[in-house]
Amino acid sequence: MPENEQKRAPQGIDTTKPSVSRVYDFLLGGKDNYEVDRQMAEMALKVAPDAPEAARSNRQFLRRTVRHMAREAGIRQFLDIGSGLPTQGNVHEVAQQAAPEARVVYVDHDPIVLVHGRALLAVNASTTVIEADIREPEAILAHPDIKGLIDFSQPVGLLLFAILHHLADDEDPGGIVARLMAGLAPGSHLVISHFHNPGQAHPKVSEQAFSAEKIFNETLGTGRWRTREEILAYFDGLELLEPGLVPLPEWRPDADEQAQLGITYHTFVGAVARKP
Ligand SMILES: C[S@@+](CC[C@H](N)C(=O)[O-])C[C@H]1O[C@@H](n2cnc3c(N)ncnc32)[C@H](O)[C@@H]1O
Repeated sequence: MPENEQKRAPQGIDTTKPSVSRVYDFLLGGKDNYEVDRQMAEMALKVAPDAPEAARSNRQFLRRTVRHMAREAGIRQFLDIGSGLPTQGNVHEVAQQAAPEARVVYVDHDPIVLVHGRALLAVNASTTVIEADIREPEAILAHPDIKGLIDFSQPVGLLLFAILHHLADDEDPGGIVARLMAGLAPGSHLVISHFHNPGQAHPKVSEQAFSAEKIFNETLGTGRWRTREEILAYFDGLELLEPGLVPLPEWRPDADEQAQLGITYHTFVGAVARKP
């Protein structure tokens, strides 16, 4: 690792192993990453050269879905789990542009998110950042900082962008989503973006998904490209909003948005649903 990087790494940040949030930050053109993260990203780029495009399309999906929840669905409080490092168009910026009184809690288990997030995400009395693990959903719902900002008797927008595919099957991501949704009021919304393996519908893309999965598991130790059925199961008991579960650029695109049909197009999907 370059010497200047080693010096500027904040205390408690392990720069000897890649981290999901820092690799993703690199793909988005951010600066909060280290040599080890960039090496991992280069490997992923060999299999999916348009990974930066996929990351950007995930952020655009985030912007459109949060805007929809704030403007059309009247959601005024958001819980963003696996929020990642600050970037352009953070959730509170999108939500508060549509509804200035919107409150946002960012949650991530990577300490670097807290280091950089305190300055850039917890910017006013309506936003905060906490360090917690989605694998302990009840602890998140009971966290004093969250309870200080979120009124659980009112609808919440639960944002799970690009996090569930970092949970292994035996960590029961479906059960975790259900436990989080059980704590939220009727009218709450759930949004998920997720790596997708399209199987026989797109055999070449499916092969690429398996290769990417292998690289992610060997280097980051995490990554599951799930089937359409597996991803739809997260929304059991909820009402899926139109157009359902689709490749990210197909979820209510803005008129001026042009989707690039790259190799990752069918391997990154998302949907929004409402708790009846
Ligand atoms: C690919 S980034 C996505 C960032 C942001 N949500 C987005 O979609 O633009 C995934 C984030 O999930 C976080 N994460 C992974 N596993 C987690 C866990 N068990 N609990 C909390 N956060 C987790 C990572 O640290 C990382 O910041």
